[in-house]
Amino acid sequence: MQWLCLSCCLMHFCGQTTSFDLNIKTRDRECIKVQCIRLHIKETEMLCLRDFIVFISVIVLIVQSSDGSEIIGGKEVQPHSLPFMALLQRPLCGGILISPTWVLTAAHCADIKEVLLGVHSIKESETESRQVREVVSHVRHPCYDAENYANDLMLIKLDKPVSQTKTVKCLNLGKTVRDPAAGTSCLVAGWGKTNNMGRKMSDVLRSVNVTVIDRVLCNTGEYYSLNPVITSGMICAGSDGKNVADTCEGDSGGPLLCNGELIGVTSFGQKCGLIKKPGVYSFLSQKQLKWIKKTLDKSEI
Ligand SMILES: *[C@@H]1O[C@H](CO)[C@@H](O)[C@H](O)[C@H]1NC(C)=O
Repeated sequence: MQWLCLSCCLMHFCGQTTSFDLNIKTRDRECIKVQCIRLHIKETEMLCLRDFIVFISVIVLIVQSSDGSEIIGGKEVQPHSLPFMALLQRPLCGGILISPTWVLTAAHCADIKEVLLGVHSIKESETESRQVREVVSHVRHPCYDAENYANDLMLIKLDKPVSQTKTVKCLNLGKTVRDPAAGTSCLVAGWGKTNNMGRKMSDVLRSVNVTVIDRVLCNTGEYYSLNPVITSGMICAGSDGKNVADTCEGDSGGPLLCNGELIGVTSFGQKCGLIKKPGVYSFLSQKQLKWIKKTLDKSEI
């Protein structure tokens, strides 16, 4: 089983994924996909501790090259229509308020000091709508791997609970999350860059609809070519084939919402708005939801 899996991964690396897609029946293809991904996860878990040590040095690189995360092709949202959106700084990232004291974001958004809730326009003072909190602790996913972006999730604890108002509201996590089918339309939002040029972020919160892309397709040579491997813990989503739609730098840590449900967290991408290099989102699988619940429960004691 092991070497079968290994050879499947090697074949993938040799750029043969396309032929899998074309010549092998779906059931077999699924099997190959699962085996390949399983090996990858094993490696990730083994490397988990070691990577924790090299974590700090890698983070700088990630933050500077995480171009996959300003809203491209989107539009300004109705102010405060996404009241769970958090603005994290510095670096600038998005986040999701999931309880009065916890914000979910991406693990690569390291060193966040301050969390702002109820923001629409960054440059306005918005004293009526905003609540600002300091960060007491960061809980990075224990298996976050900065090299291949696995488990790019982090929980941030606020110094004191927010009060829920019209402009600040928690997004309740569901108990189960279904892997969204390819073709599903989902919403992403953030204050990130709106094009590949320069470093300017958006002043106002923007959102765009992205379309989920099949993982096998997303791993083919035309797309990410297994560099990195898009695992079952990730979701590729981007253009519907006609319009460019993507997240970009500064959108990391924000939500991927499918039918109003939180399904993922903005993680990475190569440049922004390239149709064959869609945004990649950490998938809030059953396992990840359990980790979130456990972490929140443990620290409420
Ligand atoms: C996303 O799609 C929904 C449903 O089709 C639509 O109502 C909404 O305006 C779209 N949002 C954006 C930002 O394009």
